[in-house]
Amino acid sequence: MIKLICTKNKEEMGRYVADRIERLIKRKPDAVLGLPTGTTPIVVYNELASRFGAGRLDFSRVKTFNLDEYCGIDENDTDSYRHFMMEHLFSKVNIRPENIHFPDADAIDLEKECARYDGAIAAAGGLDLLLLGIGHNGHIGFNEPQSEFVVGTHKVRLSDSTIAANARLFASPSDVPRRAVTMGIGSMMNAAKIIVMSSGADKSEILYQAFHGSVKPGLPASILQLHDHCTVVGDPDAMRCFRESGMPVEYVENENCFGGE
Ligand code: PGA
Repeated sequence: MIKLICTKNKEEMGRYVADRIERLIKRKPDAVLGLPTGTTPIVVYNELASRFGAGRLDFSRVKTFNLDEYCGIDENDTDSYRHFMMEHLFSKVNIRPENIHFPDADAIDLEKECARYDGAIAAAGGLDLLLLGIGHNGHIGFNEPQSEFVVGTHKVRLSDSTIAANARLFASPSDVPRRAVTMGIGSMMNAAKIIVMSSGADKSEILYQAFHGSVKPGLPASILQLHDHCTVVGDPDAMRCFRESGMPVEYVENENCFGGE
């Protein structure tokens, strides 16, 4: 079932998602989270760091699996997704290094590494909660539009639109890696719950298409329509197409009216 939630702004979206995570960790201190990078989740990570600072959250038993990592970028490089996560969340909370997981995108035996990553997610009991952003082309993680959904963790060639969108984070567009390793659709769809986050008018149309049109690998996020517990949360600009379509959108006006985890 898909639940559509419109928050009054991006910061409120961050508080909504942080609240869902806080409830989950309080109920299940060893929760397993699937986490994205990108601009969208920063408000969530800021909110989680501040709640940890306030003594409201304990990450000591939490496990995380990030969605993806670039090929050809050292994990200590400031452009790596591991570095992004350290900077925005992991260095600010008490998560244990051994509980942080990324695919090794430069593994010599990549097939083995992809199988290892899927195995590690399964061995942890699967994801309790998966956070996702959505790309302008409808990608989730780095599952780019293609002719079929790929179940397992795998290597991808990034689409031109993804390279263009991510160029803002690099010194020059030619520095953007062309390849990455991403969690596949299988581990994502096996997550107990999923939250898709979005802010800004530029995501409204693709978000609507993903959850309104047909399910097809050319629009990877559309597979989420088949998930039992998927929430789409966005600011009013991102949720515009949903709001104008007459689809049932729940409005969250303050941080105390959250759905339970
Ligand atoms: P963004 O990226 O959060 O930076 O917009 C989302 C994505 O490409 O998945």
